[in-house]
Amino acid sequence: MDIIARNLRFGISGDPQRRWFDDDLVKSAAVDAFSIFLPEGERFFIRSLRHYAPQLDDPELKAEIKGYSVQEAYHTREHEDYNVALRSLGYDIDGMEETVRKVLGRVKRPIDRLLVTCAIEQITYGTSKMMLKTPDLFDQSADHYGCLWIWHAVEELEHSAVAPHVLTAATPQMSGIQRYVMRTAAMAGVLALFYRLWIRHTVAIAVANGRKRGPKLYGRIVWLLFVRPGLLRRTSSGLLRYFLPFYNPIAPEDARLLQAGRARLDKMLETAHLPQPVSAA
Ligand SMILES: [Fe+2]
Ligand SMILES: [Fe+2]
Repeated sequence: MDIIARNLRFGISGDPQRRWFDDDLVKSAAVDAFSIFLPEGERFFIRSLRHYAPQLDDPELKAEIKGYSVQEAYHTREHEDYNVALRSLGYDIDGMEETVRKVLGRVKRPIDRLLVTCAIEQITYGTSKMMLKTPDLFDQSADHYGCLWIWHAVEELEHSAVAPHVLTAATPQMSGIQRYVMRTAAMAGVLALFYRLWIRHTVAIAVANGRKRGPKLYGRIVWLLFVRPGLLRRTSSGLLRYFLPFYNPIAPEDARLLQAGRARLDKMLETAHLPQPVSAA
């Protein structure tokens, strides 16, 4: 799939909103909580893949790593700006980012970093497909937020196969079974930590907006994740596919989905009113 790095700015910090998603505070918080992982995470992914680039022979794969790195660098910049917006709304973003930094900092060996990157890329791939499969997901959202998430989803789909391809190319000495055990073990560890932190950050944002920590708030979050819009439920088939021994990082429907996603992004950008960012360099 073509990897196209689109140097776009969405200006989230120029117009921060607590209820940008369907005028719904908790729904917005659940997606905002995803952004908190991204600047740290995406820098980690770039470093993980670039570590292996010099030892690869395949020029096509090296070019894919380059395209991947440019896309993720633009994502990092826009999510830094997004997180500046969250900070300006009074949320403890420094504390939450510090937790993400510490968790990722514990992964030291290059091969483990690559395995964690493959696992998180699969999560972002699943989340992106869920967004692209729901044409009206951001119809009632603030333009700049909706455009940013669709842009990010399109590019995540474009580069979803790069990390798994690097894993295969960088580990020729491993048997298929060894590689399978390592990547699924990494995914199990990532899933447990990622969802725990995601829910914790969603709750923290809601509480900072005056919501009471308790069954009502937790029930609402469970509803959003598993029922409507099913942010987690609708990514689960992609995640389960990762546990298949002969997992293929590209699904047959991806090309069609990507084509529709690119057209949707162009259409959204045509009519969007994007504020000027106040923080992005
Ligand atoms: Fe990204
Ligand atoms: Fe990515």
